[in-house]
Amino acid sequence: MAFVKVASLAEVPEGELLGVESEGKRICLANVDGEVYAFSDVCSHRDFPLSNGELDTDECTVTCEWHGAQFDIRSGEALCLPATRPIAVYPCRVENGEIHVDASG
Ligand code: FES
Repeated sequence: MAFVKVASLAEVPEGELLGVESEGKRICLANVDGEVYAFSDVCSHRDFPLSNGELDTDECTVTCEWHGAQFDIRSGEALCLPATRPIAVYPCRVENGEIHVDASG
């Protein structure tokens, strides 16, 4: 396990997405009512950045802007076509206003 600082909490206001890079991976951060989630910033359909998509804080989902695939950001599960494969989700924690993600797995 190797948690790495990827952003400050102030960079990801509630209801917002932010694309970052860590360990050579593109990671999308999402702030849902103060809870931060980290998952792959690469749509499993055609690799579009999910950080350009739309976050639904009620359902805890992100919708890809390109063709409308939707993912559960807690599990990575693909919820609708055209995506059929899940996206990776990463352990994430907030300490002293900094967001740390373990993308080594
Ligand atoms: S690239 Fe995301 S739905 Fe097609």
